Amino acid sequence: MSLLPSRGARRGPIICFIGLVFIVALYELGIICNPKKDQLTPIMVTKEKYVIGENDRQTYPYDRSMPLIFIGGVPRSGTTLMRAMLDAHPEVRCGQETRIIPRILQMRMHWVKSKRESVRLVEAGISKEVMDGAIAAFCLEVIARHGEPAPRLCNKDPLILNMGSYMLELFPNAKFLFMVRDGRATVHSIISRKVTITGFDLSSYRQCLTKWNHAISLMHEQCKDVGVGRCLMVPYEQLVLHPRDWMKKILHFLDVPWNESVLHHEEFINKPGGVPLSKVERSSDQVIKPVNLEALTKWVGKIPEDVVKDMADIAPMLSTLGYDPYASSPNYGEPDNVVSDNTVRVRADNEMWIAKARQLALQESVPVVAATNDDSSNTITA
Ligand code: A3P
Repeated sequence: MSLLPSRGARRGPIICFIGLVFIVALYELGIICNPKKDQLTPIMVTKEKYVIGENDRQTYPYDRSMPLIFIGGVPRSGTTLMRAMLDAHPEVRCGQETRIIPRILQMRMHWVKSKRESVRLVEAGISKEVMDGAIAAFCLEVIARHGEPAPRLCNKDPLILNMGSYMLELFPNAKFLFMVRDGRATVHSIISRKVTITGFDLSSYRQCLTKWNHAISLMHEQCKDVGVGRCLMVPYEQLVLHPRDWMKKILHFLDVPWNESVLHHEEFINKPGGVPLSKVERSSDQVIKPVNLEALTKWVGKIPEDVVKDMADIAPMLSTLGYDPYASSPNYGEPDNVVSDNTVRVRADNEMWIAKARQLALQESVPVVAATNDDSSNTITA
């Protein structure tokens, strides 16, 4: 008598095993009742978004994962020049300040800071995820659609950098260019050109330098927070003294290929695919000129003596950023020849530049002797 089970008895477990595998497969595929599958909650998804170029009808998809470029800094630190130089690049479009992006970010900050409002929002189903999604969609829509389509999009609303870490939460592949300028020059520009910034008292150098110090230290913290791979500090003085070296460094940081046109932004003003200018932004009539040294030391001799004496205490960020607070006439370095030549041309042709600004209907930003009335249309909040 054989000790092995009969053929029929051997087939039984194999058939059972195959049957079991079959049932599990049907269950997982949801063909037979699977309560787990029924529990998957539906979600809302947006349709794919894209902008269509007018001439080439190419499509440029945009979403939150794209490598957006944000240019920030205290206003009057060369942010418009920076964006104009990038706008001259055929693959990049920054465009004019949007003004509404910093406002929506500021509103969110108020909502988040208020305990009462936060409770109301949670009760209304506005979770952090919903809020962030909505704000990101708002910002993205504005950035993508307020100007011409381009493979690389950029935004220059200078005070956004105050919320750099949050912007990086919304746009994880974004990069920031942080424009830094000698605070004495920035404040001189704010006061002499009457640029209204909430919190800045245009009648006092001391107060404006204190505010500058506060604003720039917040941005400096944010830039450090997001990290060196995400935020590059660009000193205005060095950019204008050595535009080629600095633009090489900047484009490399942004993973944008080199293009000579970034050194000739003035040739692309208001041209298709070039540098669109707002008629009412305060830097438009300066940025139509080639990179020049006119603004570098205009502040020297304009700051009251008592303020100069206390400079290191009023604005400690000067030293942090590498500026000598005691230098009454600082030497920022020797310019490249091309910049010296540009400066000579700009000075010689002053009338021509004024005429050009008028022809483009740009609001003139002529320096005044003393700061008087506010121009509230230019109010920005630091
Ligand atoms: P001044 O007001 O001291 O002249 P922002 O655009 O951030 O507000 O910065 C404005 C400063 O950038 C202005 O400083 C302006 O002169 C300077 N700027 C604009 N266009 C420039 C150019 N083509 N070359 C050098 N500096 C420029």
